[in-house]
Amino acid sequence: MTHIGSYEDRRKNFTWAISERELEYKDENVINIGEYCSDRICRMGKKDKLALIWENHTGEERRYTFDDMRVLTNTIAAYLQKLGLKPGDRICLFMDKVPELYFGFLGILKMGGIAQPLFSAFGSESLVTRLADAQTAAIFTQRKHLAKVRNILAEMPSLKHVIVVDDDGSRPLREGELAFHMDKEERVEHFDIYPSKAETPSVLHYTSGTTGKPKGAQHVHYSLISQYITAKYVLDLKDNDIYWCTADPGWVTGTSYGIIGAWANGATQCVLDSGFEASAWYRFIEKHKITVWYSAPTAIRSLMKEGEEPIKKCNLSSLRHLASVGEPLNAEAVIWSEKVFGLPFLDTYWQTETGSMVISNYPGMKIKPGSMGKPFPGITATVVDLKTFEPITKAGIVGLIAIKPGWPSMFRTYWNNVETYRSKFKNGWYISGDRASIDEEGYFWFVGRDDDVINTAGHLVGPFEIESALLEHPAVAESAVVGKPDPVNMEVVKAFIALKPGYEASKDLDLDIMNFVRKKLSALAMPQEIEFVRSLPKTRSGKIMRRVLRAKEWGEEIGDTSTLEND
Ligand code: PRX
Repeated sequence: MTHIGSYEDRRKNFTWAISERELEYKDENVINIGEYCSDRICRMGKKDKLALIWENHTGEERRYTFDDMRVLTNTIAAYLQKLGLKPGDRICLFMDKVPELYFGFLGILKMGGIAQPLFSAFGSESLVTRLADAQTAAIFTQRKHLAKVRNILAEMPSLKHVIVVDDDGSRPLREGELAFHMDKEERVEHFDIYPSKAETPSVLHYTSGTTGKPKGAQHVHYSLISQYITAKYVLDLKDNDIYWCTADPGWVTGTSYGIIGAWANGATQCVLDSGFEASAWYRFIEKHKITVWYSAPTAIRSLMKEGEEPIKKCNLSSLRHLASVGEPLNAEAVIWSEKVFGLPFLDTYWQTETGSMVISNYPGMKIKPGSMGKPFPGITATVVDLKTFEPITKAGIVGLIAIKPGWPSMFRTYWNNVETYRSKFKNGWYISGDRASIDEEGYFWFVGRDDDVINTAGHLVGPFEIESALLEHPAVAESAVVGKPDPVNMEVVKAFIALKPGYEASKDLDLDIMNFVRKKLSALAMPQEIEFVRSLPKTRSGKIMRRVLRAKEWGEEIGDTSTLEND
């Protein structure tokens, strides 16, 4: 393994211009992520190299070279243009991890559209919240998700085109619904790629906060500069690597590193379109001789639970580098992976808003299991005081993770919500909303979130969205939602509910409420536990104090309750 030099050397000599030079990008030039991930790689002599090896749960396999990807993304871009869609239009991808999702993403970018990927497990309400905010013009979907799209059409006059990528004619499509078969369309060899500039909007990823509706973090084509170089240094992608990012492109890891960072480096990617199953995952690694694997702590903990037996049945010697993101990676998981794979999972930290890794471990750096590592070269990160937002200079003191604005992949705004965007910057820093401390050697140690957002299996869910859905259930008078500890998913959703008069707590009602949320929002948002209460702890001004409920779940000190109404 060739290392990339000591952390200090790399940091001292780093400027983002290194990435710009490697990508042959100069100020004011055209920079289109779609072009960089496909056409440019072909021009570099790799047109026959495999870009995507895709497999689903039935074992069906599809393979595409970089030239296939170039042509198919052209084909999609041309199709969207023919429909009358314009640069700047928001185009949603609402699909499982099928090739059409990956190529659709790049095709949208090639015609200047803004790609809006959404997790296909979302229910109609999660979907409409995000589409209505973005005033989305078109949506790509599959037959299996079409009913959820149909449910929201009446509320979505902006949504002109519903594009179904796997229509088989078995059930008639309705007016406005279009059958599109990527592989059967006439192939478009040449497409005039939209001449996007650095600041042209590219991707809109919705993320949950404590209050209000989910917010659309808006990114630009220049994000490529960060995503390319972090994928190269941290994921250590090299020409002969076979790379597997397990994340779904409905979330930012699946786009920044499951599409952009990897393909801009010309890497061959594998995608497994199926749920988690330890032995299927190991077989997938063995079959495709995967070398670089980027996953998440929940998956790693699930693998740990299955033990070493399924590992012994496979030859995993192709693996040479493992990384993780999305939640705290416990030291035990790092030590376990070193024992069973001979390689530690290296933790990386970032957010939808940061667009690329900002703090991480990478090859060549000393790893301290349990630490997120150090700021990526080019990133200035620190922890700041919780109240004054002044950098904390003493080691070991907990503060908020803060990053000096200006890195290329920083989000540029929240869609329609510039006020909340501005509120994220304090004292000249971008404030992440996470708490951590820094040790004497400059390593960051994650402590927890500074808000009420729940991180379940690496996915953020906002309590407000769930509480709002709960209130729509006929039996619910009041509710508060918090995260409760879970050995695998880190946190799961727990709801405290006060019932309306005439309703009584029962197992059936429990299940009914759970299912109600699952259908409306998603399985992730569904409470795993409901506790029926007579009333909820509130401040004197009537605000529900989730903090009090959460502290009880985690066995923590409740803290200052002087504002508690029923004290
Ligand atoms: O709380 C942190 C947690 O996930 C949040 C970001 O979530 P999202 O915007 O959905 O992006 C996830 C993938 C980049 C952070 O604010 N988080 C992310 N990585 C880590 C983490 N928590 C602890 N350790 C990490 N390595």
